[in-house]
Amino acid sequence: MKCIKPLQLGVLASGRGSNFQSILNEIQKGNLPASVRVLITDNPDAYAIERAKKNDIEFLIFKPKDFKSKDEYYRKIADELKSREVELVILAGFMRIVGKPLIDAFPFKIMNIHPALLPSFPGLHAQKQAVDYGVKISGCTVHFVDEGMDTGPIIIQAAVPVYHDDTEETLSQRILEQEHKIYPEAIKLFSEGRLEVKGRIVNIK
Ligand code: GAR
Repeated sequence: MKCIKPLQLGVLASGRGSNFQSILNEIQKGNLPASVRVLITDNPDAYAIERAKKNDIEFLIFKPKDFKSKDEYYRKIADELKSREVELVILAGFMRIVGKPLIDAFPFKIMNIHPALLPSFPGLHAQKQAVDYGVKISGCTVHFVDEGMDTGPIIIQAAVPVYHDDTEETLSQRILEQEHKIYPEAIKLFSEGRLEVKGRIVNIK
């Protein structure tokens, strides 16, 4: 029997952590050959911490204000991830722009999920931006992280309709259902070595 070593993940989350949970669910169902080595959060009140506790996953709380600089903060995070032999870093509702020391430590090995069809509506409140703009289709994007805000090479996207009576909340919920599908899918493709990055194009082999 072929024994595949599970991909070692490090998850960064700032809040509720439903994407973190969807990844844990797929791992538990045997659909994703991965293991979450550590959760790192910038928010001591993040519900993601409860999810880590329930699943016996180590968690670390690092607040940027406790560090001398942004670089020092991200160097610390990179060191903690490296020391646990993390192979892929998952931003799951991590509401900060990642600093260079972390990006340099994990080139094309950091993924983010964003609740819009990038390059439309980057940044905060993407779903509200979509409703306010009046688009008829929105969705979500999994992409590799670079130094910009939601600008890295796109891995997978999923589209959802936007209805005339949608609010930020109703659209967010419709998009979230898709997020929970495509994030584990993107991680699976990575674990299978099927993502090839050429410039800003990601080929799925
Ligand atoms: C998700 O909708 C995610 O796409 C978004 O925050 C939410 C986190 O939910 N991320 C961003 O907006 C990043 N720019 P979760 O904590 O339940 O996974």
